[in-house]
Amino acid sequence: SAPGDSCVERTFIALKPDAIQRGLVGDIINRFERKGFHLLGLKFVQPSRQLVEKHYEEHLGRPFYEGLVNYMTSGPVLASVWEGKNIISSSRSLLGATDPSKAAPGTIRGDLATQVGRNLVHASDSPANAEREIGLWFQPEEVQSWSRALKKWIN
Ligand code: PPS
Repeated sequence: SAPGDSCVERTFIALKPDAIQRGLVGDIINRFERKGFHLLGLKFVQPSRQLVEKHYEEHLGRPFYEGLVNYMTSGPVLASVWEGKNIISSSRSLLGATDPSKAAPGTIRGDLATQVGRNLVHASDSPANAEREIGLWFQPEEVQSWSRALKKWIN
């Protein structure tokens, strides 16, 4: 194993319905790949209200909760699992600030969005939430192991 393997984490990334509707799937995934993160799982989902409510359960009762659930169930979502060094904090840096009007240029939200209620992407905010969210959106067999994939590749 390579030095620094102990900071390798998994995270859950969702491209929200506006990212799909605006045709930004390739651009956003490209940023994660170019960064050097490894894709472990990917699927197109029309999430149920129940799934989205479970996903955002810690925000139940917040003023934006109802609008957020409506937004996330308004169309298909591209659910994904990624792996990489410090990916939880690093992927949130790639996304930029929650409110796109405050997100720095060069970030996904800074470059591509204007409104908090249409901020294109979700990324898990902690290792515990990452594992919880991966379990909500994916079956275990839908998620690859990067080291296993490497061993299977033909040279
Ligand atoms: S907090 O206070 O840090 O727990 O909340 P935060 O991480 O900023 O936001 C939690 C999720 O709610 C979304 N959000 C909003 N959606 C719509 N409208 C408003 N005003 C709003 N404020 C916050 C925010 O994007 C977070 O969702 P995800 O999917 O993680 O981006």
